[in-house]
Amino acid sequence: MCGIVGYIGDKKSIDVLTRGLEKLEYRGYDSAGIAVVNKDEMKIVKCKGRLKNLEENLEEISIDSHVGIGHTRWATHGEPSDVNSHPHVNHKGNIAVVHNGIIENYLEIKEELKKSGYSFVSETDTEVIPYLIDMYYDGDLKKAVMKAIKKLKGAFALGVLSLDEKDKLIAVRKDSPLIIGLGEGENFIASDIPAVIDWTKDIYILENGEMAEITKDHVSIMDFEGNPIQKKVYKVTWDIDEAKKGGYDHFMIKEIFEQPKAIKDTLMSRIDDSGKINLDNIDIKSEDIKNIEKIYIVACGTAYHAGLVGKALIEKYARIPVLTDIASEFRYNNPFIDEKTLMIVVSQSGETADTLAALRLAKEKKAKVLAVCNVVGSSISREADYVFYTWAGPEIAVASTKAYTTQVVSLALIALYMADMKGTIDEFEYKKVLEEVKVLPEKIEKILESQSNIKSAASYISKSSDIFYIGRGFDYYLAMEGSLKLKEVSYIHSEAMAAGELKHGTLALIEENTPVLALATQDFLYDKMISNIKEVKARGAYTIALAKEGNTEIKGVADFIIYIPSAIDELTAPLAVIPLQLLAYYVATERGCDVDKPRNLAKSVTVE
Ligand code: F6R
Repeated sequence: MCGIVGYIGDKKSIDVLTRGLEKLEYRGYDSAGIAVVNKDEMKIVKCKGRLKNLEENLEEISIDSHVGIGHTRWATHGEPSDVNSHPHVNHKGNIAVVHNGIIENYLEIKEELKKSGYSFVSETDTEVIPYLIDMYYDGDLKKAVMKAIKKLKGAFALGVLSLDEKDKLIAVRKDSPLIIGLGEGENFIASDIPAVIDWTKDIYILENGEMAEITKDHVSIMDFEGNPIQKKVYKVTWDIDEAKKGGYDHFMIKEIFEQPKAIKDTLMSRIDDSGKINLDNIDIKSEDIKNIEKIYIVACGTAYHAGLVGKALIEKYARIPVLTDIASEFRYNNPFIDEKTLMIVVSQSGETADTLAALRLAKEKKAKVLAVCNVVGSSISREADYVFYTWAGPEIAVASTKAYTTQVVSLALIALYMADMKGTIDEFEYKKVLEEVKVLPEKIEKILESQSNIKSAASYISKSSDIFYIGRGFDYYLAMEGSLKLKEVSYIHSEAMAAGELKHGTLALIEENTPVLALATQDFLYDKMISNIKEVKARGAYTIALAKEGNTEIKGVADFIIYIPSAIDELTAPLAVIPLQLLAYYVATERGCDVDKPRNLAKSVTVE
């Protein structure tokens, strides 16, 4: 997730671009840059770091320009650096491109372009685009862009500027958002409305497969074949704060809703045309996998809960023993690690102090480390031997949501990949599980569409002072995540229990109307969970059950049911977590809590 802006008109383009980028910094903030036409010169200024670094650099140069494009980056390919920052240009420096999305086949295109004599300076997927446009350019920028985008697989919103046609911008949208702001004698492009809202509230929202040629006085929209498209003007009625959150009240709920897209991004370019998982980018050799004797998965908080699901998946499919530990414990537990151990660390931020220390300890003891990480260029991603990026985009809310689901999906891909390398899974099962992974975004959309009963359950829980989450197998790991989410945003005391453990102590705490959230998504443990629900109900608990659609028996047992779409037992976690996240969110808002910034907590815990 990056942010794009573009401007053409009478204002100083640099002012418009930098103000627009400020509004888009929530989409990425590891580097920023602009390309503007200054008289007869294409001027590029870009650098690593937050937007203020770019602004400081711009203060030192005088640029008189009225057309340009800008970018704020959230790295996916190539760590944050000056050279990997956007805009990217062709070798002649006369075509500049800003891009949001992922080009899946960039390595292939890069090889082809190298054969035609082009050479590259960055590690990004984006850099192939200005070169492709250059190759196809014969006096018509729009046509050259059309030809270039036909070669691209993946997601891309683009802003294109050329010195040879400096009276226009070209904008393209496929699977990454892009809007056009309409002004009087000026026009804008942007990834999101906040970037243009200071100047105009009249917007064209580009759809997938649409592109536009934009001059200061005119916008023509067409499909990728050049057929004209008529668009309705959308009038923005929100203020800037609402707009940044895409119309949602909080980042947490926005990020919950972003999960289908985030998972699609995680999967993108990881499954090749033959339907196999391709982890070539990670560079972990099949020999290395075959030599692993055991795996440690180490992380903190929500990332640890994702790691627990990963453990069960790797053990089931790849048949490698997996130990899990909380990073702050692992460090001091004198763990059994040697060169035949693979350490998997899971971290959204890539900066968590305990996880980083655990990684260093494992490396000291000669283990190889695979990081499942969201932030490209973070300490953990730099120090690990291999990195699997989750590509969830920036997570702003302190409570982790889309990071968890993308971590689970990443670990599922890793488990299947290892199983395939080791020959511990047959082709039928491999395909079946992978198909289930691919339909997760659709199923999550379904859960997000109908949440009225989740709100009703939230209303009950919001009045309670304690709640218990119970489950077995994958549902126990899920219970831990659901419980953590609720307590951190709503401040209600909550505990997660393995359902079979209740009678060994915690059952003493169940009294009249104590809410118990019973997770019953595992087919082979379903009957056991029904018994556990009866057990707490007999002590007066108010039971809210979470089950797969079609499991009707539970209706006569629990007081309240939340259904999720059916799925194989191994992949219910990324589905069932959605109602749990929503529940936490609605309970917290009902109690008037500061959802995005819960008390005493920070997004990235860089101290021990
Ligand atoms: C809870 C939450 C935390 C983090 C934990 C690890 O919602 O966000 O529990 O999961 O602090 O952080 P990362 O993943 O950045 O290492």
